[in-house]
Amino acid sequence: MSEHPPTQPLPLAIPDGYAPGRLVRPLLVLRRWANEYRAHRRERRTDDGPSIWESIHLGIAEDGRPARVPLIYRNMLLAGEPGAGKSVGLNNIVAHAALATDCRLWLFDGKIVELGLWRSCADRFVANSLDDAIGALLDLQSEMDQRYAVLDDERRRKISPADGVAPIVVVLDELAYFSATVGTKREQEAFSVLVRDLVARGRAAGIIVVAATQRPSSDIIPTSLRDLFGYRWAFRCTTDASSDIVLGHGWASRGHSAASVAPETKGIGFLLAEGGVPRRIKAAHLSDEQVYALADHAAMRRLAAGIAHGQDLDDTRGGVA
Ligand SMILES: Nc1ncnc2c1ncn2[C@@H]1O[C@H](COP(=O)(O)OP(=O)(O)OP(=O)(O)O)[C@@H](O)[C@H]1O
Ligand SMILES: [Mg+2]
Repeated sequence: MSEHPPTQPLPLAIPDGYAPGRLVRPLLVLRRWANEYRAHRRERRTDDGPSIWESIHLGIAEDGRPARVPLIYRNMLLAGEPGAGKSVGLNNIVAHAALATDCRLWLFDGKIVELGLWRSCADRFVANSLDDAIGALLDLQSEMDQRYAVLDDERRRKISPADGVAPIVVVLDELAYFSATVGTKREQEAFSVLVRDLVARGRAAGIIVVAATQRPSSDIIPTSLRDLFGYRWAFRCTTDASSDIVLGHGWASRGHSAASVAPETKGIGFLLAEGGVPRRIKAAHLSDEQVYALADHAAMRRLAAGIAHGQDLDDTRGGVA
């Protein structure tokens, strides 16, 4: 005898007053809509990839909604204690920028291995040399000045997508490595002055600075520099005071403190966007395998688009085409 009970036919309850069509038609309509939607998606699916002019997905907000922010004409500061999730947060931004073939990518990483995975997508990759970092920032500064000279000639205020002038995404992982750890005091000062200038003036010229530091202290992030960053993302900090150094004075006392993030919950931080209230968000996490796959794919796209440099670690030459 079978172990299973005999299959019963589904009871087809036909309600009183059943009128054929009433039940069936909505299902047919739904199916037709679904088919039309699928066809529409198929039609729209192109290989364009993301654009730097679109919002960048950073993670999930507390209300379960995706946290996306446009970075064009803006800068972002990420700070928090070691291991809090800054580099993981940065990876989301770098991935978007690398896949977007309408922007250039300049990467600075004293640790080498975090942003190094994206080296083949970068126009310029600066590892742990302060000299190279200053040289690259000087090149960016002169590119910015040239762009402003052109804008001034054309009596315009900022670049636009129609220009064909590629925005440059400048990502610095561990600001303090260059501004307070290696080199002489003078070199560190020169580095800090150049970063400040790019953050202060770069936006309209399409230069987007995204900087991370594990030292949210006033010597690394003075108020005058912090206030230039339109977006501030405070990952776990040890004290309310250091959270306020990132987000701005007074936010901790109003209940928005990155010191409230439990040490074991990685990737959670408070994101403050210009003029808003800090939002607690969890950064999207790309595994190493996903980063390798995305970086390879992005490098191929850049190669196909004719904008790949794929320079070697030692080769810090290059420039903005
Ligand atoms: N959003 C996240 N989701 C899941 N795990 C995360 C997330 N963010 C960070 N982690 C985990 O925490 C580890 C440390 O994160 P990450 O390297 O980004 O820290 P960090 O703030 O850059 O540290 P450091 O200051 O030392 O560079 C990651 O390797 C990962 O395992
Ligand atoms: Mg890091």
